[in-house]
Amino acid sequence: MDSYSLITLLSCFLIIFHGNSQSPASPDGFNCSANRTIYPCQAFGLYRAGLTQGIQDLVSVGDLFGVSRLMVARSSNLTTSTTPGVGEPLLIPFTCDCLPEYNNHSYYPVAYQINSGDTYYLVSTGKFQNLTQYQAVEIVNPTLVPTDLDIGQMVTFPMFCQCPSSTDNFTNLVTYVMQPSDNYSYVASSFGTTVQSLVSLNGPENTSANFATILVPLAQNPPPILLNRKSEQAATPAPSPTPVLVVEKKDRNGVIVGLAVALGIVGALFVFLLILLACSWRSFILRQRMSEENGGKGSSIVEQRLGRNESGAKLMSDITEWLDKYKVFTLEELKEATANFDSSHLIQGTVYKGNIDGETFAVKKMKWNACEELKILQKVNHTNLVKLEGFCVDSESGTCYLVYEYLENGSLDMWLHDPASSRKIDWRTRLRIALDLAHGLQYIHEHTWPRVVHKDIKSSNLLLDSRLGAKIANFGLAKTGHNAVTTHIIGTQGYIAPEYLADGLVTTKMDVFAYGVVLLELLSGKEAVNAEGETLWSEAEKTIFDSRDGMKEAKIREWMDPALVEQSCPIDSVVSVINVAKACLHKDPAKRPSMVEVAYTLSKADETFADYSGESLSSVSGTDVFAR
Ligand SMILES: *[C@@H]1O[C@H](CO)[C@@H](O)[C@H](O)[C@H]1NC(C)=O
Ligand SMILES: *[C@@H]1O[C@H](CO)[C@@H](O)[C@H](O)[C@H]1NC(C)=O
Ligand SMILES: *[C@@H]1O[C@H](CO)[C@@H](O)[C@H](O)[C@H]1NC(C)=O
Ligand SMILES: *[C@@H]1O[C@H](CO)[C@@H](O)[C@H](O)[C@H]1NC(C)=O
Ligand SMILES: *[C@@H]1O[C@H](CO)[C@@H](O)[C@H](O)[C@H]1NC(C)=O
Ligand SMILES: *[C@@H]1O[C@H](CO)[C@@H](O)[C@H](O)[C@H]1NC(C)=O
Ligand SMILES: *[C@@H]1O[C@H](CO)[C@@H](O)[C@H](O)[C@H]1NC(C)=O
Ligand SMILES: *[C@@H]1O[C@H](CO)[C@@H](O)[C@H](O)[C@H]1NC(C)=O
Repeated sequence: MDSYSLITLLSCFLIIFHGNSQSPASPDGFNCSANRTIYPCQAFGLYRAGLTQGIQDLVSVGDLFGVSRLMVARSSNLTTSTTPGVGEPLLIPFTCDCLPEYNNHSYYPVAYQINSGDTYYLVSTGKFQNLTQYQAVEIVNPTLVPTDLDIGQMVTFPMFCQCPSSTDNFTNLVTYVMQPSDNYSYVASSFGTTVQSLVSLNGPENTSANFATILVPLAQNPPPILLNRKSEQAATPAPSPTPVLVVEKKDRNGVIVGLAVALGIVGALFVFLLILLACSWRSFILRQRMSEENGGKGSSIVEQRLGRNESGAKLMSDITEWLDKYKVFTLEELKEATANFDSSHLIQGTVYKGNIDGETFAVKKMKWNACEELKILQKVNHTNLVKLEGFCVDSESGTCYLVYEYLENGSLDMWLHDPASSRKIDWRTRLRIALDLAHGLQYIHEHTWPRVVHKDIKSSNLLLDSRLGAKIANFGLAKTGHNAVTTHIIGTQGYIAPEYLADGLVTTKMDVFAYGVVLLELLSGKEAVNAEGETLWSEAEKTIFDSRDGMKEAKIREWMDPALVEQSCPIDSVVSVINVAKACLHKDPAKRPSMVEVAYTLSKADETFADYSGESLSSVSGTDVFAR
């Protein structure tokens, strides 16, 4: 026995003697260690990709656990563009804590929205692969009745986890679910550890207990189980038990991945760097926490920065979950960056331009209660969404500052409604902007869980980067959840869908409607509401949507942005976009296309336009869906 295992063994005996054994998880999970100063800590869970249909790519696995794709990729030693194979092991980062409401257990809480047919048992053993058990779900949701769950209801699923004690010779513990074919020696070699350390952490091996949850020290990172999967895959190219499904998934992700790579390789690298930064910040905080002796009460720099008053404590609990993901700026840093929020730095509204360490950022000042946006942004990550880089909270004034990437070309409305600059964005560029917006919306509608509805899509919330690529900004009104009904109507005149105005019904289709309005703006260069208060969509309905075919072309030319007419853009391509706009603006939300369909049709229109030579005016394919 080497000195390492001896020490591990000894320390575990010590733990057992202290009465805070981590040994094998009861249905309630692992008991908290008596020494509470070890919480919170970074832990991991081993999850296998693709065992549940639709939870295979890094985005959907990340969404399930409330972490970003990048965090999953990083802890699993993968690149963000990888799609793991079915059954491929992934390490999911858990922030493990022991809070009073956990009833003396250590958990990583995951917010989950109930689908039809879900029960605590089925979700725990299915989607969460026994990383939790229904008994523990009951503990952390004392007010819910397990037999009476509503679809759409949020339930906390507590992932089992544990923090190493101060005497342990490893920094992280992985929650691992024993598979029927597993034994301790196999698991130990998979993680580069020893059978003895598994025994000391979990008690003797019980061969008759299937799917037991055990703790495995992360002795080396990445552990062999993650390194071996590469060679396994290389040796057996297609080991999938459900080949058809896999191919489907891969195709779908291929498209997304391709896009991300093509459009945002630089952005991805940048974010990766940020995450590294955020993580080193996090470990700094944890270290700080451990080194401080405050009579058992943990205290971090952030807490000090936020003050110790009650609201400070509340803010603290609100933001701790984001420390992993974002850089936390100090108020001093932001004041320096913006010359104390001087009006010369003002971009628009409460958004300031700031310079920090030679880099330019956009800093948005808002009341803390408006920070719903932070909650949503931390779930999303896409080339066509403005990236959040960090934040700062000032508890004194109850103000929250969000720090975003800075986009030099400002918002789309500035370009469209100014005749001089509207000439600079030709039809091709406008088509690309429409496509970028479609991809961004498709992502928040289809690839986030719970679904996000932006609720305030408009040309002034669409920002353009140096290459006139478009990104969606301002998630200030965004809502998670679908089919919610709100009582007070918010949004922007001219973009609000009729059913939302009438019933307050929030669905992704209200974004589709607003998207249709933005298409009309791109086509006409007009504002969403004219000086007489008439909306652009009702005007379009009267003039171009319903005109007879013979008249249509002339009507369209008359209505279009003069800047485009001057550039003699191909009418087929314009007509296909008008058809898309018309479909998006359908009065009945159910009849509007999804953003997936819109993105597909527009990319066809874009391809066709790319082939357009001036002589061979080929008709735009893919528009059939939208032709009345
Ligand atoms: C911890 O274990 C490693 C081997 O994994 C060993 O090199 C190191 O010396 C050990 N540390 C202590 C303090 O025993
Ligand atoms: C966890 O704590 C409970 C109650 O304090 C105790 O009954 C149980 O034996 C403990 N479990 C382990 C594995 O130590
Ligand atoms: C939780 O554990 C602590 C010590 O480990 C003990 O004093 C306390 O009574 C326990 N609380 C419950 C609710 O079991
Ligand atoms: C991650 O995997 C790659 C092989 O894909 C390997 O070269 C690299 O060293 C690994 N990363 C770390 C941190 O070990
Ligand atoms: C979880 O455990 C149950 C039995 O307790 C088993 O039927 C199920 O297959 C396990 N789930 C996974 C994903 O391994
Ligand atoms: C509790 O843990 C901290 C650091 O994790 C350590 O410094 C302290 O000595 C521990 N206290 C006891 C009573 O073990
Ligand atoms: C453990 O499992 C591995 C592979 O599944 C097998 O080769 C080995 O013989 C098993 N060892 C024991 C002690 O059962
Ligand atoms: C082993 O697991 C089985 C099934 O869960 C259980 O009935 C039995 O008590 C366990 N044996 C030991 C020694 O823990």
